[in-house]
Amino acid sequence: MILTDLRFGVIGWGYWGPKIARNLDGIPQGMVTMVADSDSRRLASLAVGKPWIQTTTQTSDIFRSNVDAVVIATPVRTHYQLAREALLHGKHVLVEKPLTANVAEAEELIALAQRQRRVLMVGHTFEYNPAVNELRKLVQNGDLGKLYCIEAERVNLGLFRSDINVIWDLAPHDVSILLYILGKKPEQIKVQAHAHLQPHIHDIAHLDLGFADGMTAHIHVSWLHPCKIRRVTVIGDARMAVYDDTNPAEMIKIYNKGADVHADPVVSYRFGAITIPHIDWIEPLHLECEDFANAIRTGMQPRAHGEVGLEVVRILAAAQKALEVQESQNVKAVLPVLQS
Ligand SMILES: NC(=O)c1ccc[n+]([C@@H]2O[C@H](COP(=O)([O-])OP(=O)(O)OC[C@H]3O[C@@H](n4cnc5c(N)ncnc54)[C@H](O)[C@@H]3O)[C@@H](O)[C@H]2O)c1
Repeated sequence: MILTDLRFGVIGWGYWGPKIARNLDGIPQGMVTMVADSDSRRLASLAVGKPWIQTTTQTSDIFRSNVDAVVIATPVRTHYQLAREALLHGKHVLVEKPLTANVAEAEELIALAQRQRRVLMVGHTFEYNPAVNELRKLVQNGDLGKLYCIEAERVNLGLFRSDINVIWDLAPHDVSILLYILGKKPEQIKVQAHAHLQPHIHDIAHLDLGFADGMTAHIHVSWLHPCKIRRVTVIGDARMAVYDDTNPAEMIKIYNKGADVHADPVVSYRFGAITIPHIDWIEPLHLECEDFANAIRTGMQPRAHGEVGLEVVRILAAAQKALEVQESQNVKAVLPVLQS
């Protein structure tokens, strides 16, 4: 098959933009030809390292250029406006997670992409992670049995952000993993969050999601933790599985363990073998960029299409609302002082 040449423009040359650009350059017949960042200091390294890439501090230069597609790797508050402009100029768009800062903006981008007949994709990198896909297979094939609950932890010291709280920064990953592996949406959400270092910017959060069938999921995200933990634990009535993103050699472990209650109320335990499936590793960001290029070339929907991004934004927005309502009511249960 003859592949059409694809020219990509990247907006945002901070931490994540260069990683996406490296992977876009790995796409057959694809290359990054333009980079924009409002901070000219960020662009200085490109003039030395990749002098063939055109750089600019004006995003309008990218929109008016001959690039076929634009990747937006800027702070969340800028996603909607930049993606809107790019679509209006006829560009295909990959927006970093979360798609937008609210539901209305995400809905508008989806409608605009449809009208413009352009790809709108969101950077849900973990949906392209081979270990997450292995976990999804276990869940979808019923290998773990009926699911009781999922526990997701994404904690470390930092990176503190001052424009969004930890829910909008880290939870998009876990929410997208949950929706992807389960294939169903939660019905309820409860939140507990605390702002320790910066006023009103919550740095620790616990999200409790409830599903129609009684299944529950708990997400713990934090910038204030001594250890880097990136773990999803799935508890089924037949088996349990742990996905540990920080352990490349043993990313998925399946525990043949469980507990049952029989006729009389005595719990019996099952202890079996632990299985560690082999995972053929390909960098998730490479697979994500490949999916974007393929969607542009074939017109097929990418895995992390706009609606997928919208569902995650809906849950983040519901969590934010729940948090605001709770804080405005400021209801605290007072514990009686314990007498010694
Ligand atoms: N998928 C992932 O795993 C992953 C990982 C990290 C970050 N991200 C996402 O990538 C995005 C960027 O995060 P980051 O960590 O690279 O942030 P960053 O602060 O390191 O970089 C953002 C860059 O955007 C530039 N910028 C800001 N506003 C701009 C504008 N209006 N026009 C042009 N340039 C502008 C800044 O100067 C900066 O260089 C965020 O949406 C974040 O959620 C995703």
